[in-house]
Amino acid sequence: MTVSFRDLPLSDLPKTLGTVAVFASPSALTEAAQAADEASGGAITRAQNAERFVGKEGEILDIPAPAGMKASRLLVVGTGDDETTPNRARTIGGKLGASLGKLDETGATIFADGVGSDTVLASIALGIRLRRYTFTKYRTETDASLDRGPGKVVIGVTNSAGAEKADIDANAVAEGTFFTRDLVSEPANILYPESFTQRLQDLSELGVEVSVLDEDDMTKLGMNALLAVGLGSRRESRVVIMKWLGADDKNAAPFCAVGKGVTFDTGGISIKPAGGMEEMTMDMGGAGVVSGLMKTLAMRKAKANVIGVVGLTENMPDGNATRPGDIVTAMSGTTIEIINTDAEGRLVLADVLYYTQKEFKPKATINLATLTGAMIVALGYDKAGFFSNDDGLSSQLQAAADAEEEGLWRLPLGKAYDDQIKSKLADIKNTGGRHAGSITAAQFLKRFVNDSPWAHIDIAGVALSKEAKPTVPKGASGWGVATLDRFVRDNFEEKSSA
Ligand code: BES
Ligand code: MN
Ligand code: ZN
Repeated sequence: MTVSFRDLPLSDLPKTLGTVAVFASPSALTEAAQAADEASGGAITRAQNAERFVGKEGEILDIPAPAGMKASRLLVVGTGDDETTPNRARTIGGKLGASLGKLDETGATIFADGVGSDTVLASIALGIRLRRYTFTKYRTETDASLDRGPGKVVIGVTNSAGAEKADIDANAVAEGTFFTRDLVSEPANILYPESFTQRLQDLSELGVEVSVLDEDDMTKLGMNALLAVGLGSRRESRVVIMKWLGADDKNAAPFCAVGKGVTFDTGGISIKPAGGMEEMTMDMGGAGVVSGLMKTLAMRKAKANVIGVVGLTENMPDGNATRPGDIVTAMSGTTIEIINTDAEGRLVLADVLYYTQKEFKPKATINLATLTGAMIVALGYDKAGFFSNDDGLSSQLQAAADAEEEGLWRLPLGKAYDDQIKSKLADIKNTGGRHAGSITAAQFLKRFVNDSPWAHIDIAGVALSKEAKPTVPKGASGWGVATLDRFVRDNFEEKSSA
């Protein structure tokens, strides 16, 4: 489905075919809604008087075959009486997107004159796109309940130039989010470290410098913690580095985003129960968000230096697999006793975090990972949890998530938790016992981070959406692309002087 802006005078409204949508609040009709009301002999005001439709935020009135208009149906979309902010507009767009998805129409035209600023208009487009996302490449039989909705959505305003410009950034967020959702949705026989790497190579078309570490490179660097996770897999592990150097000074210290990319997590020798194991195709979700972020930044040509680094591997049981009790020396020199081979994400991140800080000397680092089931026990599916060694970075990150309305909540770190991962035989062990499982995992990561600002976001509960929300269909959510894009924009970007 495509959403695009076009110059459309309101005089076109009565003659427009297909679905026509306009906006109204409880107290006022937009200019376009007034035009539709007039053309249809007062259909909207009559419905409002009968209180079939009030105009509350996201409420939708569906008038089939409106008299006096060529349209097959007229949708009146409520905006509510509060100011239509970009976030509200995105939610309203999402709800409109959901309604459009239930219709058998080839085209929809949204007359948006009078709804709000160019940014508000672009946010409506973003909401529609985010909600209408589907992952259907493996369905060969059409499903009437899923394959509906117009292929082409046009948002018409009298003068569309400004909205079109604002839509460049909004569309970049949508495309980055879709890249993440596509990667997370792929099954593990298709998306494994090497094929994941190939998809990331495509980002070079957008100006991202992509480089790859193969297993020989990792062996030379001493990345034995990451390599230990992949020992049981027939697939080779990879580390992929994606550089977007958009700042005027290409040598300015970057912001680094690091992702856990376990393309499938069986648990290894500490194998997981069979029920629901297929969900572990999403265990590369952190790497997926980092990849989506890089795509968004490159598409909107962000004036910031950002480096994404993802550790890609597969956790399988095998004669060659890592055993519980094995001890490995990470790239940092820290020795790790592997108690449970299912606590593999922290082993991957240990080496990738250490490598990133050593190689790129970042101003700040944020890693994302589907790291612990305990995160879901603590916060459920509504919020991701995060941990940080820096209060300033924490408030910047929290502010970005709040602004984008993505759930995020800070949890503590501390010495008592660090004591839980002391090992009898090595420096540390990779599990900290039953209690505070997400925190001890974070303490483990902190061992591989220097004193520069760092945050770890555990996205185990939010990478997949259990149910549809206004701007997130059921399935891979893309949680975090919008938040991190906002975080970069607000804290690392040079404001253009234009
Ligand atoms: N990938 C899982 C965590 C996970 C669970 C993500 C559910 C998404 C949904 C991770 O590798 C894992 O298996 N963690 C273990 C750690 C334990 C062995 C200390 C867990 O959470 O059970
Ligand atoms: Mn695991
Ligand atoms: Zn895992």
